[in-house]
Amino acid sequence: MLEGKNIILGVTGGIAAYKALELTRLLKKEGACVWPVMTDAATKFIGPLSLATLAGNPVYTDIFTLDRASIDHIELADRADLLAVVPATANLIGKVASGIADNLLTTVIMASPAPVLIAPAMNHRMYANPVVRANIEKLEELGYLFVGPERGELACGWEGEGRLAKIEDVMDAVKAALSPKDLEGEKVLVTAGATREPIDPVRFISNASSGKMGYALARAARRRGAEVVLVSGPVHLADPPGVTVKRVESSAEMRDEVLIHYPQSTVVMMAAAVSDFRPVLRRTGKIKKDTEPIALELERTPDILMEMGRNKDERFLVGFALETEDLVGNATEKLREKNLDIIVANGPEAIDSDTSRVTLIDRGGGVENLSPMDKEEIAERLLDKVVSMKKAG
Ligand code: C5P
Repeated sequence: MLEGKNIILGVTGGIAAYKALELTRLLKKEGACVWPVMTDAATKFIGPLSLATLAGNPVYTDIFTLDRASIDHIELADRADLLAVVPATANLIGKVASGIADNLLTTVIMASPAPVLIAPAMNHRMYANPVVRANIEKLEELGYLFVGPERGELACGWEGEGRLAKIEDVMDAVKAALSPKDLEGEKVLVTAGATREPIDPVRFISNASSGKMGYALARAARRRGAEVVLVSGPVHLADPPGVTVKRVESSAEMRDEVLIHYPQSTVVMMAAAVSDFRPVLRRTGKIKKDTEPIALELERTPDILMEMGRNKDERFLVGFALETEDLVGNATEKLREKNLDIIVANGPEAIDSDTSRVTLIDRGGGVENLSPMDKEEIAERLLDKVVSMKKAG
């Protein structure tokens, strides 16, 4: 997603400046070209050499020492796809909001036509200061993008709102700023993770599923402008930013929650590994190990997606199929049976992994084998297909 994108990374003088190093590494890993611009104060917190080494580009600091033969601040501003200021001090925010351009970073921000993403980080009282609030509000109205800050422990020893957003959330905001907003106006419902079908108060039947695919889809749909509801089984993943997350346990709870959101949804992507069976009886007390060997009587759970497929109307439905044999044949049968537009087929090696090798099968019989890739990237490719199929009608 970030391949070849020119990102000017502004770093200002706060203790969180060291986090810009990790951000630079992640941006580079995803293929971005990072052009760091530091304020004087930032250079007191981290060494420009560290940033230059990670970025693989020179660090610009002083407006008067730029080598005119190769680059000037206008050129720097012109080449940017995005300007990200991470971390941004109250001082930087105040200057930008007031139209002050007295150093290289503020000059570049003023001269650039690219979107500007600001990640504030400061003491909680500074962040609560009405002047800072008014500056942020003004910039938001003007179209500047913000990520964070979040609540947490602050470097000054206090606890409060002012901590730099998590680097994963900054990465997500960078991608969102560079994403096409081709799902604007869509209401997307995503399910993720496995369900748990209780046997007794402490035991359950479940599936091996990390929820990574569904969470990646929810994040990507949100970045592309959709309003997203994510119905999730128990997983160890952070809530995607800007997404309404509903947590459930059993398939019955998942069905109830999904059916609340289904009527107003325009796109549904069912990535959850819903248990196919559940115990007929849920025992109220914990089963003792010294009881006689017991047999569990199981019944089928409701097939949520099948039910949605029967009341599909204009909605776009995406299902997932994990198959151990005849991947395309079995998945295609499910696509027809459940009245889906696309089914994403993969093998068991996808479970818990960050990557997967999937086959996208559409209702017209199109079969597309994607090479093994990150689930974040699969999410983008799948959404590309959803958008193009919806456009074609
Ligand atoms: O038939 P199978 O369970 O393999 O189909 C998988 C697809 O159906 C997935 O998208 C899964 O989320 C959905 N599903 C469901 N309700 C079930 C079982 C599966 O919605 N009870």
